[in-house]
Amino acid sequence: MAGLFISFEGPDGAGKTTAIKSIVSKIEAIDSRKVVVTREPGGSKIAEEIRQIILDPQHTEMDDWTEALLYAASRRQHLTEVIKPALAADQIVLCDRYVDSSVAYQGGGRQLGTQAVAQLNDFAIQGVYPDLTLYFDLPVAVGLQRVRKIGAGFDRLEGEKLAFHERVHAAYLQLVAANPQRIKSVNAAQKPDQVAAQCFSIIQQYLVK
Ligand SMILES: Nc1ncnc2c1ncn2[C@@H]1O[C@H](COP(=O)(O)OP(=O)(O)OP(=O)(O)O)[C@@H](O)[C@H]1O
Ligand SMILES: [Mg+2]
Repeated sequence: MAGLFISFEGPDGAGKTTAIKSIVSKIEAIDSRKVVVTREPGGSKIAEEIRQIILDPQHTEMDDWTEALLYAASRRQHLTEVIKPALAADQIVLCDRYVDSSVAYQGGGRQLGTQAVAQLNDFAIQGVYPDLTLYFDLPVAVGLQRVRKIGAGFDRLEGEKLAFHERVHAAYLQLVAANPQRIKSVNAAQKPDQVAAQCFSIIQQYLVK
C-alpha cells in the first residue's frame, strides 16, 4: 500500500494529541503529500456508535472480552472507512492511538493477555500495521499527574488505578522491545516543543522530499 501510516501511542496524558498538532505543519513543509490527522474511532459514524456502546456508563455488566472485541470492531471500521482510503490516495496518516493501545490496555491493563489481544486485532486489521509507531515514554505517575492535576500520594482506590496503569506501561514496554523496527520511543517527559522535535526527527526519515 502507498502512503505513510504513523501511529502515536503511550499512556493517558503523555502528550500525544499535543505533539500531533505541532507536527502536522513540520511535515507539510517538507512532504507534498496530504496529511490526515485521525484518532480512533475517527470520523466514522459506525465506529463512533460502537465506541458509544463501550463507553456508556450504564453498561457496567460489559464483559472484558466484549470490550476488546468492540474496540477491534470499531478499529476495523475506522481502518476501512478512513485509514485505508487515505493510504490508497498516497496520503500521510497520523493516527492518535491504534492497535497497540488495545494490546496495552485490554491485554495488559485488563489482563486479557497481550498475545491474545494482539491475535484478536490481527484478525481485525488484516496486516495493516503502521509504518512507524511513536511511543510516548513517560513515568506512569507523571502521566496521571498531568491528567488529574494531583500531587503525590494515592488513596486506596487511586492505588488500584495506579496498578492498572502500571500494567499498561509494562505492556507498552514489552511491545517496544518486541518491535524495534516499527516502534520508536520518544522521551515524553521533555517540554512540548522538544517532544515534537524528537518526533519529527524520527518521522523525517520516512518523508519524501
Ligand atoms: N511535554 C509536555 N510537558 C508537560 N505537559 C504537557 C506536555 N505535553 C502535553 N502536556 C499537557 O498534558 C496534558 C495531556 O496532554 P495530551 O492531551 O496531549 O495527552 P494525550 O497523550 O493525548 O492523552 P490522552 O491519551 O488522554 O488523549 C495536557 O494538559 C497538555 O497540555
Ligand atoms: Mg489525546
